[in-house]
Amino acid sequence: MSFRTFFLSLSASFGLAWLAIVIVPYFKMRALEPIAVEDGDGTNAVYIPKRAGRIADGAEVYAANGCYQCHSQLIRPTYAGNDMFRPDWGGIAGDEDRGDTRRETNAFDFEREKFAPIGVARLGTDLSNLGRRVEAVYAKGGDAEKWLYAHLYNPRWRPGRRESTCPSFRFLFQVVEVKGNASEDALDFPVKEGMEIIPKREAKALVSYLLSLKKDQSVPDSLNFTPPTAAAPVAP
Ligand code: HEC
Repeated sequence: MSFRTFFLSLSASFGLAWLAIVIVPYFKMRALEPIAVEDGDGTNAVYIPKRAGRIADGAEVYAANGCYQCHSQLIRPTYAGNDMFRPDWGGIAGDEDRGDTRRETNAFDFEREKFAPIGVARLGTDLSNLGRRVEAVYAKGGDAEKWLYAHLYNPRWRPGRRESTCPSFRFLFQVVEVKGNASEDALDFPVKEGMEIIPKREAKALVSYLLSLKKDQSVPDSLNFTPPTAAAPVAP
């Protein structure tokens, strides 16, 4: 093989590839305009709630006390489980203002969290939407924060509902002497005359975090894999 043939073949093999992979696509695609994609439901952004300050501190208390050992925060796709159909796990089925808000969990639900507490085992309920559930169902019209303090202090005490088997986290509270008026966040549990039970800093942070658990904001259609609910029958 002469040097000339070698050089020509070398240039051809590199040149052709360069032409087909770089030059041709460049001329074909250099003038492409971005296509605006709008989802069917009109949203094309994901709402990311603020997770800072006391809520972020609460997430650490949640982790430190091993809540994730028994509680998940993951509404599984319907092909993998029936989470969507557990009462108020995926969202509130009959929300007064927003209708049915149930949906599966997606990766954006853990945005701005240091780690995603999806949970180890599921001995207790899923807590993805605990904040909503406490406000809309358990403490309806009452004080959601107090409901959670009472649950953490004594899970066996739940007026109107069956006793919970969740462990008690009494060490997150302290019994102090009442000085002047009773504290605003004092628990309603009976305690010695002149004393009151108040949440410690950790309990306050934990409850802020638990109340912030509302992973049911609407998402763009492209992220919403929730099976459509049966359409209402049309009147003949
Ligand atoms: C040993 C397992 C276990 C651990 C650890 C645990 N829980 Fe629970 N929890 C449960 C079980 C089981 C239930 C459900 C009880 C029932 O429905 O009767 C429950 C129920 C709850 C509920 C009521 C939820 C609902 O939807 O009814 C809340 C709130 C809760 N736990 C918070 C916590 C928090 C916060 C922590 C960590 C500080 C924690 N739990 C740690 C087992 C656990």
